[in-house]
Amino acid sequence: MLKLLLLLCVFKYSESIPTHVMGKKGASIILPCEFEAREIFHIGLNRRSKNILVYQNEYCHKRVCKKGACDVFIKNLRLRDAGRYILNVYHFNATSVLEPQIRTYQLHIYDDIFVKIGERLKLHVLLPDAHHVMHQNKSSTEWKEVWKREHKKRVSVSHDRLSASDGALTIEAFTDDDAGTYRVLDFDGEIMITVTITDEKSSVDI
Ligand SMILES: *[C@@H]1O[C@H](CO)[C@@H](O)[C@H](O)[C@H]1NC(C)=O
Ligand SMILES: *[C@@H]1O[C@H](CO)[C@@H](O)[C@H](O)[C@H]1NC(C)=O
Repeated sequence: MLKLLLLLCVFKYSESIPTHVMGKKGASIILPCEFEAREIFHIGLNRRSKNILVYQNEYCHKRVCKKGACDVFIKNLRLRDAGRYILNVYHFNATSVLEPQIRTYQLHIYDDIFVKIGERLKLHVLLPDAHHVMHQNKSSTEWKEVWKREHKKRVSVSHDRLSASDGALTIEAFTDDDAGTYRVLDFDGEIMITVTITDEKSSVDI
């Protein structure tokens, strides 16, 4: 059985259209498998070509649990959970072990935060597969690029109060104009993270 599993694990993934799943930071989501085979014997969850441990019974490993036949439940969501997931469902019929059923998900995490004018704000959103960050201010419907990954090691930012390091985008001395919505997109232009920032002054005004 182990040999068989190893053999199946090297099976090449064909990219399928992702199912979009959206959840708020701190909340829970389900990656729906929607597969009705009775004889599922293993599910494998992958992200950035790495295996994520999912116990095959009802117990959770860290924040990840299997639910029902092959759904995956993730609790206490963090911004860094955002991105692409691939689920392989291994099953068999009466006579053979069949090729795994593959499900692809795009997990979009959102959050709303309040920031005081003049404060330093650190957004932990520059995940390895983040490609660019767009900002929409409160008075505009336009999106403006504020950060972009140019090459593997080189990134660019749109103004000098912005800096990027250790997976975080930092805004020095937050201003009213920095408020609004920040959106992180991956290399395919899929949304990974949305953070809506309200400055505390304007929240008091309401
Ligand atoms: C099981 O799957 C194999 C491969 O797809 C197929 O050839 C076979 O007919 C199936 N057997 C049953 C009982 O469905
Ligand atoms: C809001 O964004 C628009 C478009 O990017 C820009 O022209 C405008 O100056 C911005 N307004 C503020 C208050 O930052």
